Amino acid sequence: MVSPYPSVSILGTGSYVPEKVVTNDDLAKIVETSDEWIRTRTGIGERHLAGAHETTSYMASAAAEKAIQAAGTEKKDIDLVVVATMTPDMPFPSTACLVQNKVGLGNITAFDVQAACSGFVYALNIASSMLRSGAYKKALVIGAEKISPILDFEDRTTCVLFGDGASAAILGVSDVPDVGILGSLGGSDGSKPDILCQPAGGTAIPASVESLNARQHFLKMNGKEIFKLAVRVMEQASLDILKKHGFTTDDVDLVIPHQANMRIIENLAKRMKLPMERFHNNLDRFGNTSAASVGIALDEAARGGRLKKGDLLLLVAFGAGLTWGASLVKWQ
Ligand code: ACO
Repeated sequence: MVSPYPSVSILGTGSYVPEKVVTNDDLAKIVETSDEWIRTRTGIGERHLAGAHETTSYMASAAAEKAIQAAGTEKKDIDLVVVATMTPDMPFPSTACLVQNKVGLGNITAFDVQAACSGFVYALNIASSMLRSGAYKKALVIGAEKISPILDFEDRTTCVLFGDGASAAILGVSDVPDVGILGSLGGSDGSKPDILCQPAGGTAIPASVESLNARQHFLKMNGKEIFKLAVRVMEQASLDILKKHGFTTDDVDLVIPHQANMRIIENLAKRMKLPMERFHNNLDRFGNTSAASVGIALDEAARGGRLKKGDLLLLVAFGAGLTWGASLVKWQ
């Protein structure tokens, strides 16, 4: 059946990671851990951590500039900016508004999406739907995270897992049928918010001396619980979106999964009966950059020549919430 809606293509991608590299050995000087433990349990070797000037909007804007350049698009033609982040510069105004100003975009629609590590896929879903509706023509989609300020560097079970960074993509309406973002899906289960959260700083536990002393402004996670759920929801989201669009796992040329833990990705590959060569991974160099992760991996794959015209890409992520999402992309 011919779709009544226009195609939405990814016209260009970009990413930015902070200059400062922190290795596992560096972390072993701060908490009781080792390079061997972190590598074997997670696949992470090092991560980039932002300096004071590298705010979420700074990194987001740097990634955006690269994506705009890669797309060869003019800033004046962008009419929508969506930023996925759970670590905005401040609760409000939105980071998207700060990016609008920093990048020098027009007075366009700008807003943030909060879906934790599924953020980039959620934002792609939302922006491509807005473009497909005909209301917008060109979108800047960003996943950006400065997660280091909410990491507890006294908690070895969480602080070794994450890194800072940003990624961006320019989406545009295309006349060519069945190319670009073929479809996206998202899901959520808010029944267990405590398994991955930042307890304080919102309206439930406003900032107070007590909340600071109780270290409630730092990320808390039940790693084992998240691990099990992550594998299950990523597999289900992948199979659902492939089925919805008439594909099987064999049709997928490259999976770009959220980079949380190499063992999660290996489990996913096993369940989908796909070889690891069909997954793009960069956990060893960046750790888990939350909403930025899928976009950084996509940008790396695109710039590294790993994507060929006509390739079918599966982007799949999970995150706090719990949230999950998947996008199918026919690369142009
Ligand atoms: N260094 C050394 N030892 C450690 C460390 C560390 N950094 N962290 C934990 N340990 C110890 C534990 O204390 C425990 O010791 P014990 O047996 O004496 O009690 C032992 O190692 C085993 O700990 P487990 O928690 O059982 O380790 P596990 O193999 O489950 O790995 C991990 C933990 C890596 C966190 C894993 O569960 C995981 O990756 N979970 C998913 C996390 C994730 O994906 N989070 C991101 C979500 S995305 C988002 O939205 C932000």
